[in-house]
Amino acid sequence: MSRYADVYKAWMDNPEDFWMEAAQGIDWVRAPEKAFNPDDGVYGRWFDGGLCNTSYNCLDRHVEAGMGDVAALIYDSPITGSKRVYTYAELTEEVATFAAVLQDKGVGKGDRVIIYMPMVPEAAIAMLACARIGAIHSVVFGGFAPHELVTRIDDAKPKVIVSASCGIEPNRVIAYKPLLDKAVADSKHKPDHCIILEREEHAIESMSTRDHDWTALMDEARAAGRKADPEPMNATDPLYILYTSGTTGQPKGVVRDTGGHMVALKWSMDNIYDVKTGETYWAASDVGWVVGHSYIVYAPLLQGCTTILFEGKPVGTPDAGTFWRVIEEHKVAALFTAPTAFRAIKKEDPKAEFLAKYDTSSLRTLFLAGERADPDTIKWAEQILDVPVLDHWWQTETGWAITGNPVGLELLPVKYGSASVPMPGYEIHILDEGGHEVEGPNTLGAVAIKLPLPPGNLPTLWNNDERFRNAYLNHFPGYYETADAGFIDEDGYLHIMARTDDIINVAGHRLSTGGMEEVLSSHQSVAECAVLGIADALKGQKPIGFVVLKSGNTKPLDEIEKECIQLVREEIGAVAALRHIMVVDRLPKTRSGKILRATIRKIADGEEWKMPATIDDPAILDEITEALRSHGLLTDQAA
Ligand code: COA
Ligand code: AMP
Repeated sequence: MSRYADVYKAWMDNPEDFWMEAAQGIDWVRAPEKAFNPDDGVYGRWFDGGLCNTSYNCLDRHVEAGMGDVAALIYDSPITGSKRVYTYAELTEEVATFAAVLQDKGVGKGDRVIIYMPMVPEAAIAMLACARIGAIHSVVFGGFAPHELVTRIDDAKPKVIVSASCGIEPNRVIAYKPLLDKAVADSKHKPDHCIILEREEHAIESMSTRDHDWTALMDEARAAGRKADPEPMNATDPLYILYTSGTTGQPKGVVRDTGGHMVALKWSMDNIYDVKTGETYWAASDVGWVVGHSYIVYAPLLQGCTTILFEGKPVGTPDAGTFWRVIEEHKVAALFTAPTAFRAIKKEDPKAEFLAKYDTSSLRTLFLAGERADPDTIKWAEQILDVPVLDHWWQTETGWAITGNPVGLELLPVKYGSASVPMPGYEIHILDEGGHEVEGPNTLGAVAIKLPLPPGNLPTLWNNDERFRNAYLNHFPGYYETADAGFIDEDGYLHIMARTDDIINVAGHRLSTGGMEEVLSSHQSVAECAVLGIADALKGQKPIGFVVLKSGNTKPLDEIEKECIQLVREEIGAVAALRHIMVVDRLPKTRSGKILRATIRKIADGEEWKMPATIDDPAILDEITEALRSHGLLTDQAA
C-alpha cells in the first residue's frame, strides 16, 4: 500500500488516535485528554478542554528553541520598493507590544477586532496580537468597499478597528481612512477605537477622537515597556471570524477555533506541503482571504518557517519576472498561489523569458488552489519550472485542503483537471439530489463531506448556528454540503466541476452573484436583474449582468449601464470586477419564474445547450444572445 493510503486508512480506522498524535505537533498549556467531543457544539468540537495559545505557538516557542535570529516574516513590496525582514525575536516583540496596545484600548478575551489593511506586515502583527490576548480578529479584504465593511462591523461588533492610511494598486493609491470613516458612520455598531497605520505613500486625512496613530501608540507602549503575554485559551475558543460570500449580500461569518486550527495546519505543513522549520514558504495571496490567514500567517509560523508577505502582483510590479525574483532572493521552497496568477504571467511572457534571469532552484513544489486549475496552466507551469505542480481543493469554511497531493507523504501521480485525493479527516461522498450516493465512479453529483468535519474546519457561523445548519448541514443530513459539484474517478481522484450555488470565482476571488443582484436592484431604474459568471481566459470567470428597466425610463441606456457598473464598484468594491451590464426587455425564465442563468452561461461560453422545455418565451433567448454579441461576450467572438 502507498504511504498516503496507509495514513488515510490509519485515520479512518482510528480518528481519535490519529488527531491526538497530530496534536503533539503543537505546545499546549494543558494538553487535551480527548480529540473529539461529539456532544458539544453543532456537530461536535475538537480538543475541548485543551489550553493553548496560537501566538505562543507561532512565535515564542521558536524563540525559546533558539530561533530568535531566524527570519520569521519577510515583507517584500515591489509596488512600493520596500523590503523588511522580521526575525522571530523581532516579530514576537512587535506582536507582544501591539497586543499590549490593544489591551490598553480595552480589548480582552473574546472581544472582536476588525483588521482592514493592505498587505503590510502590521496586518499580520495585528492578527497575531489578537491571538495573543484571546481577542477574535476579523480581517476584511482591502478591495472591499465601505458597505461590505459595514455588514461585517454590524455582525462582528468590534471594539477596535485596525486600518492603514492607504492600500496601493498598480494604477492608484487607495485612501482607506475615508472608506473606514464612511463605514463607521453608516454602521449601527460603533467601535470604541480605530488604530490607523500611516504609510509613507499617503498621509492620514483626518483623525477624530476615536482615532489613534499606530506608530504613536507603539512608541508609547515601548517607552513604558508594555508587552502582553500569551493568554491561555480553550482549544474551542474562536481565533478569528472570516466573512465569505454566501448566496446573498449578507456574508457568512466563518468561525475558526484555536486548537483544532493549529493541529490541522501543522499537520498540513509536514504532510501536504513538505516544508520544514527554517525553510521559506510563500503564499502569494492576500491576508484578507483564507489562503492568507492559513498560509501567509499561521501555518508557516507554526512550522518555524520564513513566510513571505508579498505586496505586489504577478505581472506589472514591475514585470512578469517578479515571482522568480522573489523565489531566488528568499530561497522559496514552496510557492502557493491561484492559477490566475500563472495565467497572468503566461499571457505576458508566454516563453517564460524572464525566468532565465533568475535561479529558482530552491523551489521544490508549486501548489495551486482557489479556483479550478485548468490543465494548460498546470502543464505550462510544470514545463517552465520543472517541479511538481499540485492542485488542491478547499474553502474558506475548511481552512485547509480537503483534497490534495500530499507530497510530504508521497508524490502521487498528477492527473490534470483533478484536485487529487481526500486528506485524512475528510470522507468525501458524491450525492444525488435525493442525498443518495451516485452510482459508480465518474458520476457527477454534489460533493459532500461526512460529519464530523476535521480539526481546523468551521464549527459554526458567528452567532448563527441556525444559518450554519441551514446553509451546510440540513440539505444532506449527516453531511457537510460543500456547494461544489464534481465526481470521483476510478482511482479515487476528485474532480471539481462547478459550484451548485450563486458563487462565482473571479481571479481566485470568491464573489456572490446574489450580492451583486441585490446592489443592482437598488438602482432606481432597475425593475429586475440577473448576474452570472461566464468563462474568462485570464480570471477563470467574470461576472456579467442583465437588467430590465422600470417602465417610463427616459435615461439613455448606456448611461444606466455605466451607473449600474459604478454602483456595484461602490457598494461591493473594485474586486467585484463587474464590467458588463446589458439592458434587456425581459429575462429568460421558466414558467414558474426561475431565471435561466445556466442557459445564458452556456450560450456565452459557446457550450451546447438545449431550449429548456419549461421556458416561458423562447424568443427572449435571441435577445439575450444579441446582447451578448453586441458586448463581445460570446466565447467564439472572444477567440
Ligand atoms: N485593494 C483594492 N483594490 C483591489 C485589491 C485590493 N487589495 N485587489 C484588487 N483590487 C482591484 C484591482 O485594482 C482592480 O481594480 P480596477 O477595476 O480599478 O482595475 C479590481 O480590484 C479587480 O482586481 P483583479 O480581479 O485582481 O484584476 P486585476 O486586473 O487588477 O489583476 C491579476 C489581475 C491576475 C494580476 C490579479 O487578479 C492576481 O494577481 N491574481 C492572482 C490570484 C490571487 O492572488 N488570488 C487570491 C486568492 S488565492
Ligand atoms: P474560497 O472560500 O474563497 O477559498 O473559495 C472556495 C471555492 O473555490 C470552492 O468551493 C471551489 O468552488 C473553488 N475552489 C477552490 N479551490 C479549488 C480547486 N483546486 N479546484 C476547483 N475549485 C476550487
